[in-house]
Amino acid sequence: MLVLSTLLFGDDLAEARQSLANLDEAKVGAFELPDPLRMADATAVATSELWFGKRRPEVLALFRDHVYGNPPAGWGALRFTPLETKSAALGGLATRKRVRITLQEQPEWAGIELMLYVPNGKTSPAPCFMGLSFGGNHAVSTETDVPLSTRWMRPGKEKGIVDNRATEASRGIESSRWPLEEILKRGYAVATAYYGDIEPDHAEGWKDGVRAALSPAGKDTVWGESDWGAIGAWAWGLSRMLDYLGTDADVDETRCAVIGHSRLGKTSLWAGAQDERFAMVISNNSGEGGAALMRRNFGETTEVITRVFPHWFAPKYRSYKDDASACPVDQHMLLALAAPRPAYVASAAEDQWADPKGEFLAAMHAGPVYALFGKKGVGVDEQPGIDHPVGEAIGYHLRAGKHDVKLYDWERYLDFADRHGSGG
Ligand code: GCU
Repeated sequence: MLVLSTLLFGDDLAEARQSLANLDEAKVGAFELPDPLRMADATAVATSELWFGKRRPEVLALFRDHVYGNPPAGWGALRFTPLETKSAALGGLATRKRVRITLQEQPEWAGIELMLYVPNGKTSPAPCFMGLSFGGNHAVSTETDVPLSTRWMRPGKEKGIVDNRATEASRGIESSRWPLEEILKRGYAVATAYYGDIEPDHAEGWKDGVRAALSPAGKDTVWGESDWGAIGAWAWGLSRMLDYLGTDADVDETRCAVIGHSRLGKTSLWAGAQDERFAMVISNNSGEGGAALMRRNFGETTEVITRVFPHWFAPKYRSYKDDASACPVDQHMLLALAAPRPAYVASAAEDQWADPKGEFLAAMHAGPVYALFGKKGVGVDEQPGIDHPVGEAIGYHLRAGKHDVKLYDWERYLDFADRHGSGG
């Protein structure tokens, strides 16, 4: 254990620790989930009015205080600086825009470079899928005229990163996770940005991100137990991207789905929970701290995630490392915060680290909150088999294969969005 923690860090340590996690269903043990429909004072929540008026704010505050931290009270005015409009992008299929989003009062923060593709030839504003990327806009797109990100990047993990900077070799490396042409042909826009624009993903990254910029003590900030972590900052960034989309006449900001994979799936769930303007919330293989139940002892644990990635969460979250049952929330309640908006949880069969069954169970146990609105959630009470998508207001599938975003996942999301009236 000592050797692991001294020689490895970040993702490498997380992977090495896979051998230490429980991957045996027989050893999961019994657990009891907190009731999303019971107030802290034990009052039962039987109506959607009570949910919105009392219980939802309570659950949201619990997630802020105990898991992801509290966002800052304000950030002043935003500035949107157009960088480019290319009307014949992707062989004429789309218009590509790039826009910088900055904070007028915090010039030291370099801001978010948003890249937007809108399908050409539409007569009405397009619904949109929006999410953050691990490698930057030039990694999402295969178009060689997208400028390389100049920001800090994780070593090793993404291809073509040298001395923590992107090189030409990193172009398009994430494009299989963002099938732009398929999405655009279905009539949807795509908006994306590099998550490291908001905060570089390492323990000290906040000093060069929006958290330091918005904290009165700047880089000297000592974070309190319930202050926001990186996931909170990234989610905040998604909301600022939506602020921009609200000003762009090519996009229908009332039909924007927020999507993310893995740590960015945790982020999309948290963004969708806090900001009800996201019309749909999608978590792809988000695992621990995302869609997977924290009380289920399978795959990654609170202990591991808060040791390896302490900067992702509010410091308080680590206090549940030995006893998740002491935490007043579990992840089915995070999904419930999306209600009654459509939500989708996707797992991958070979992604046991993310606990596919725990992800399904969270989706299923969010159902009672959707029922308050007369909606059916996943519509089944057992995890479906591989490649059998299920669900009504809450979609779920278990894809064959590894931890990743595949075309199969996107086809399900597009169908789901079409079904829920976000259709392009
Ligand atoms: C690690 C981490 C996961 C996370 C994943 C990722 O494996 O343990 O919690 O989801 O990285 O973001 O790729």
